[in-house]
Amino acid sequence: MTQRYPIYIAGNPVTGDAWLDVTDKYSGDVAAQVAHADASHVEQAIAAAHGARAAMAAFPPDARRDVLEHCARRFAERRDELAGLLCTEAGKPIRDSRGEVDRLIDTFRIAAGEATRIGGEVLEMQVSPRARGFRGMTRRVPIGACSLITPFNFPLNLVAHKVAPAIAAGCPFVLKPSERTPLGALVIGEVLAETDLPRDAWSVVVCDTTTSAPLVDDPRIAFMSFTGGPVGWDLRARAGRKKVALELGGNAACIVDEDPGVPFDHLVKRLVFGAYYQSGQSCISVQRIIAHASIVDRLTQALAVAVRALRTGDPHDEHTDIGPVIDAAAADRLVEWIEEARAAGGRVLVEGRRDGTMLAPWLLADVPNSARLYREEAFGPVALIESVPSFDAAIDRANDSRYGLQCGVFTARLDHAMRAWDRLDVGGVVVGDVPSVRVDNMPYGGVKDSGVGREGVRSTIAEMTEVRLLVLRDPP
Ligand code: SIN
Repeated sequence: MTQRYPIYIAGNPVTGDAWLDVTDKYSGDVAAQVAHADASHVEQAIAAAHGARAAMAAFPPDARRDVLEHCARRFAERRDELAGLLCTEAGKPIRDSRGEVDRLIDTFRIAAGEATRIGGEVLEMQVSPRARGFRGMTRRVPIGACSLITPFNFPLNLVAHKVAPAIAAGCPFVLKPSERTPLGALVIGEVLAETDLPRDAWSVVVCDTTTSAPLVDDPRIAFMSFTGGPVGWDLRARAGRKKVALELGGNAACIVDEDPGVPFDHLVKRLVFGAYYQSGQSCISVQRIIAHASIVDRLTQALAVAVRALRTGDPHDEHTDIGPVIDAAAADRLVEWIEEARAAGGRVLVEGRRDGTMLAPWLLADVPNSARLYREEAFGPVALIESVPSFDAAIDRANDSRYGLQCGVFTARLDHAMRAWDRLDVGGVVVGDVPSVRVDNMPYGGVKDSGVGREGVRSTIAEMTEVRLLVLRDPP
């Protein structure tokens, strides 16, 4: 009997007539069924969240912290179950899946800490004789109802990065996880239902984008946070006066300087991790390796050996490095882009076999930047390597992108590290490692087509709150 999961409307589990199949992304079998929200569910969820603004704002910070701590504890107790679900619904190798559950726990713990630290500022207002006797202070107040829309690639942690700060900030929310990977979000809902978070303040709906359109259009929503593809810009255009944060991915570069500043074997290991973890389906996976001419040949050879050694197969197997990509359309697109890059002069160093949604890893060199595989977000197990004559040329090349999320820099030189930080047009520069590094309390987000706004618990709380000023005038 296939396990069935309810959605949550105003904090209550709900099922209707329609069910959505969630497949095991490796076998293609139906792994579970999820209640499919209809338009009336979405309307109830938005009305409840809008109506719960005052209750949620009045729900005290220590109570918010307790809710978040309860969640972190329960996720830790259910770690194996959550990792297993993630592995099945996303096809994410089990070792990566466990890592994501650990990040889910971290993110809720970080938010628990922040919940009682949302402070303000005392302002010195005596800036001229006309301001005598005025005192000012600010605090941050919840922005109101939020819509939180998350993608398939991190079904737990990208949900956590929206839900946990919303709770800490005192914002009611309606969460819409990807229909392809909704199970993690629904277990998070199950755990939230154990808490005394005001019921109306939260909902989890699973539905198609037509049904969920009010989460973008409805003026009762004050803030929309979306992680996904370029469609995010269309959503922002429809969002009216609501505040919007978008995290829309990139084609991350990793620069390798003449002296990378780390042992060579470590460099190779980190690049292979950054390029191929969870089949490259991360917004900050290494897509473009930009290496100094003095090191590129040795690096290319070592990478080719290491990439060939990666094991592609069943994500439930402890030894698997690379599982399936999310669906056949993603594999079709990748193969098309790879063949286009090859035809444009790209040299194939490692050729990955395709079998349905299984795509073994690819490594190419000298792909021209006119090719989609270079220019667009690949989001698959493919990396490109190219040679540059100098560190400055590497920076120019990394910036030769319409995206700007994170960039990795391996260099032994402090002046180069600082120059990279000055000149790279990205949201985050990681020196000494790949761009794929994300610790869950750091500001995270991009510039250019990569999006607008920042996540990372504290930054998200800032997005989800408004500054409210108090001015006091001393008696005359
Ligand atoms: C993403 O793919 O946007 C998130 C990456 C991460 O959280 O590590």
